[in-house]
Amino acid sequence: MLAEVLIFVPSIARFREDYLLLRLEKAQIASLALLATDGMISTELETELLANADVYNVVLWRDQIRQLILSSPVNSDISATYDLRIATPLHLMRDALVVLVDSQDHAVRVIGHPVQDAGFLIEVTMPTAPLRKAMLDYGLRVFMLSALISVVTASLLFFAVRRLLVLPIRRVVEHMALYADAPEDARRVIAPTSGVVEVREAEEALQSLQTQMTGALRQKERLAQLGSAVAKISHDLRNILTTAQLFADRIEHSVDPVVARIAPKLVGSITRAVSLCESTLAFGKAEEPSPRLSRFALGPLVEEVIEAEALGERPGVSCLVDIPAGLILRADAEQLYRVLANLMRNAMQALEATGKEGVIEVSAGETDSAWWIRVGDTGPGLPLRAREHLFTAFQGSARKGGSGLGLAIAFELVRGHGGRLELLRSDEAGTEFIIHLPKMDGLEDAGQ
Ligand SMILES: Nc1ncnc2c1ncn2[C@@H]1O[C@H](COP(=O)(O)OP(=O)(O)O)[C@@H](O)[C@H]1O
Ligand SMILES: [Mg+2]
Repeated sequence: MLAEVLIFVPSIARFREDYLLLRLEKAQIASLALLATDGMISTELETELLANADVYNVVLWRDQIRQLILSSPVNSDISATYDLRIATPLHLMRDALVVLVDSQDHAVRVIGHPVQDAGFLIEVTMPTAPLRKAMLDYGLRVFMLSALISVVTASLLFFAVRRLLVLPIRRVVEHMALYADAPEDARRVIAPTSGVVEVREAEEALQSLQTQMTGALRQKERLAQLGSAVAKISHDLRNILTTAQLFADRIEHSVDPVVARIAPKLVGSITRAVSLCESTLAFGKAEEPSPRLSRFALGPLVEEVIEAEALGERPGVSCLVDIPAGLILRADAEQLYRVLANLMRNAMQALEATGKEGVIEVSAGETDSAWWIRVGDTGPGLPLRAREHLFTAFQGSARKGGSGLGLAIAFELVRGHGGRLELLRSDEAGTEFIIHLPKMDGLEDAGQ
């Protein structure tokens, strides 16, 4: 439609020019008839010739002499003169628009070259009303045609867009919904079919996404099954080992020197196996229970850990506790105990492995919004393997008999409090972890 509007002005100007040229041509033919009879024609014939050409009168210019050949009364004054010999396209367009806009009937003079270059100029006087009517008819025809073309084009475009874009996109969307219903069903993964490059790319991206996701879901399912199997085995194994532990304890006191020598190693191995089973079970519990917050003093809790882990009695290991007296925390005491026990036990194990003297340092404090507890040691620092898999279950252990669960569990427990367990530093000079516990307002003490 827009294209039609843009070409409308030049084409209506062209139409008007053709119309005027046709008038000139007809007027010339009429004047030839007159010249052929040497001017001897009746008034009726003259009127008929003029009416046929649709002009008021015809003037021929020959050798600079203006000759009125045919004439009839002109209704009004001549309002304009158009010389088609010198009219530029711009003039033609402007004049055409003027005719369209002005609904009044005027008489105008038109000058042009006669056909065949017959050696003279021809000039006619003519009314504008028939010209305007013809131009309006023409304009209407152009409009109808463009409307028709527009409708046809729009319909073609509509069907093309629908077929090439809308339907393929709808298919992709339907596939997504179908897939979402059962993502572990590999048959529901989309197979790219579209011929449109962009849609096809979307389909392929979706296909690879769905393939990956289906694979991941299946693996997750297998891991979950494996996990529950491991939990069952750990549980039964722990019970069996506990029984074995009882017997091993007894033979430790045997009088047989060989047995007495071997028994402590046997007891140590069984104890490690039991603790492995226990930590696996602890991790296997799908979720740690949410913390039961209560107020308690941190200092005594740390002393309890030191006592239970016998940290003070280890040769070469000294404990340095720097906790403000009366520092009260609000947390789950049992869980925090486990976190601290894990961190301090790790520190102690790291120190013992070096065989040198070392210090375990525990300090704590508070800010406006949080409590912090630092557990550091002067050990050898985290081995690379532990650092790469920090806080990832079963992955980070670099210790004989270790499960790689201690740090993962501690991390989970601190996170359960809305807090963070972070590695502050780890190098040859030692390792330091920090626990941040937010002072969480708005949570009621569960234990009270
Ligand atoms: N304070 C520490 N100094 C040196 N190494 C440490 C320290 N804490 C942890 N590690 C290393 O990180 C590993 C993972 O620790 P953890 O998650 O408690 O598992 P586990 O103690 O069962 O091996 C340990 O095996 C140990 O090598
Ligand atoms: Mg540990």
